[in-house]
Amino acid sequence: MWWLDIQLFFAPICRNYSETFLLTLKSSFSMKVNNKDYRTVWMEGNEVKLINQLLLPHKFEIYSCKNHTETAEAIKTMIVRGAGAIGATAAYGVAQACLEANDKKDIEKAAETIQKTRPTAQNLFTGINYVLNSIKNVSDLSEIKKIVVEKANKFADYDAEACKKIGEYGNSLIKDNFKIETHCNAGWLAFVDWGSALSPIYYAHRAGKNIFVFADETRPRNQGSMLTAWELAQENIPHAIIADNAAGYFMKKGEIDMVIVGADRIAANGDVANKIGTYEKAVLAKENNIPFYVAAPTTTFDLETEDGNEIPIEERNPDEVLFISGIRIAPEGSTAKNPAFDVTPAKYISGIITEKGIVKADKEEIKKLFNNKDANP
Ligand code: MRU
Repeated sequence: MWWLDIQLFFAPICRNYSETFLLTLKSSFSMKVNNKDYRTVWMEGNEVKLINQLLLPHKFEIYSCKNHTETAEAIKTMIVRGAGAIGATAAYGVAQACLEANDKKDIEKAAETIQKTRPTAQNLFTGINYVLNSIKNVSDLSEIKKIVVEKANKFADYDAEACKKIGEYGNSLIKDNFKIETHCNAGWLAFVDWGSALSPIYYAHRAGKNIFVFADETRPRNQGSMLTAWELAQENIPHAIIADNAAGYFMKKGEIDMVIVGADRIAANGDVANKIGTYEKAVLAKENNIPFYVAAPTTTFDLETEDGNEIPIEERNPDEVLFISGIRIAPEGSTAKNPAFDVTPAKYISGIITEKGIVKADKEEIKKLFNNKDANP
């Protein structure tokens, strides 16, 4: 019986039979919007379809990219954002470019355009390279056109499955009545499904645990208040949005039991680049003896980058700081600086939750994750 198989599969991570049963009932579903299953990115014919994240939480709309140039532009303008989501979108963009190409040079040029859209999230490069590698030894263009969408689908499926596993592992760290802080949006909008930092939270909630989420608003683009809060509301998870500078107040009062954040790139030594403001949350968590976890699939790791100092940090338009919803809040004449990410040194991280288990933010431990190459996408 299929439901028994699922139940046995989940049994080791469930506290008791009733939790197992609840997971049996609920975990076969992916993420829902108004009770309909959605993924963040997919392909229909030659078009890449995305949930337009610029319109949320006020409007839920699907955005169609008709060619690879439009797909690259959607990544650049953040219609789609979040490490896993842009990785899968980039993989689909390369597939689209293959369908449009007249020769292999067109594909290389398109891959370069997509590569230049955003510099920090490793998943973008993992996605592009995955599709390019899968056609490396195929010289016939018509053969390439036959297989490339399937390859991009495989990459997106891996992301969804990996995030689901992150949820299973991460759930084991969450106790009943836990209050959990998260930063930015590392939910299902930021991946293909489930999310990284939010996936353990979804699992814990679906397993019947009583949890509460503190969502940092995440200035300047407010991914926490606009996207994370929207996702949590869709799942009916109790939560409150807090101003970015309120975390220390709640931590000191003992109101936060753990922090889980996502990652855009993880260096070989376990240093983590994530949305600006993550570093200060990690330092505060250490000061207050609060476990600080990073959740990320192996597609976010960059073993060629020795440590966090080498990770390229995106500098974004100062207007994101100077304006809110199109209204200038700063005095005329003031300038702003707007780094999009910061790096949290490995020493502040209690563990990294991956699809292959929870590991220390440590060079040797991380290396072991990649020993079995076949298990990666
Ligand atoms: O600039 P964004 O919105 O693409 O930022 C990336 C992120 O979504 C965050 O840093 C997130 O916490 C980790 S990536 C899922």
